[in-house]
Amino acid sequence: MQTVDANGANIPAIGLGTWQLNGAVGTRITQQALRLGYRHLDCALIYGNEKEIGEGLHASGVKREDVFITTKVPHTELAPSALERAVKQSLKNLRVSDVNLLLVHWPNPAIPLAETMGAMSKMKTEGYTRHIGVSNFTVELIEQAVKLSSEPIVTNQIEWHPYLDETKVKAACAKHGIAVTAYCPIARGRLGDDQVLARIGRAHGKSAAQVSLRWLVQQGAVVIPRTSKVERLSENMAIFDFTLTDAEMAEVGALAKSAGRVVSVGWAPRWD
Ligand SMILES: NC(=O)c1ccc[n+]([C@@H]2O[C@H](COP(=O)([O-])OP(=O)(O)OC[C@H]3O[C@@H](n4cnc5c(N)ncnc54)[C@H](OP(=O)(O)O)[C@@H]3O)[C@@H](O)[C@H]2O)c1
Repeated sequence: MQTVDANGANIPAIGLGTWQLNGAVGTRITQQALRLGYRHLDCALIYGNEKEIGEGLHASGVKREDVFITTKVPHTELAPSALERAVKQSLKNLRVSDVNLLLVHWPNPAIPLAETMGAMSKMKTEGYTRHIGVSNFTVELIEQAVKLSSEPIVTNQIEWHPYLDETKVKAACAKHGIAVTAYCPIARGRLGDDQVLARIGRAHGKSAAQVSLRWLVQQGAVVIPRTSKVERLSENMAIFDFTLTDAEMAEVGALAKSAGRVVSVGWAPRWD
């Protein structure tokens, strides 16, 4: 398994996204993914399915120690006492004694970032998580979080795929040794019909989704595609046996468009 090193963390370059994998599907897909070689699970308290994901983990036969588990603290729970409660709930749901990576799920301007980063650092020093990170942080917020955190930030998890230009956030992360984890790495399935990706894929015997995932990992990103279909688990993992040329990388990069974002951010507060 290819990994990404970032500020002391060694993160498997592909993980299983788990949003909407609820109930029996969540357990079955998690178990299958681990049996097929996935070693990274991307969870969140707010997804409401950590129990099912934990069940899949424990039923898989793969040792806990061999799996990199990420979970996230909801933006409503970022005050220190609430944050600690949320983390303990996640660990209970997943039936693990700690996670590998704990993220601030979304920034919340109503709660001082200094308090949140202090509480996140405490979760690490007290052994609830091995690493800490953030998600949906802008360039400005990354700079603030780095200054306010006593423990290193290892990733910023953001929406990133060929339809979205994340050059600025990526550069801000690189400046501080922070890995970028790409969520919606196949734009929620919208890339499937893309003619450019399909053509490039044909040249390598790969699908459009695989080209998108490869384009991201080839730039050093961690990708966390989600699927509810067992056959796609293997497809999404088969991205380490081919290389895109410089011209292909540039052609995929040129697909970015101003309305390329697929996640609506209207429901969550942002500091832009
Ligand atoms: N930090 C955050 O704020 C945040 C926000 C959004 C997501 N995330 C995380 O990132 C993960 C991934 O993002 P996402 O789930 O929103 O979107 P995604 O992984 O880009 O896309 C998932 C969709 O693509 C389809 N799909 C999967 N593999 C495919 C393939 N090989 N070819 C064609 N279609 C395929 C899936 O359908 P089938 O099930 O039918 O395969 C599903 O509908 C989430 O699950 C979650 O863990 C984090």
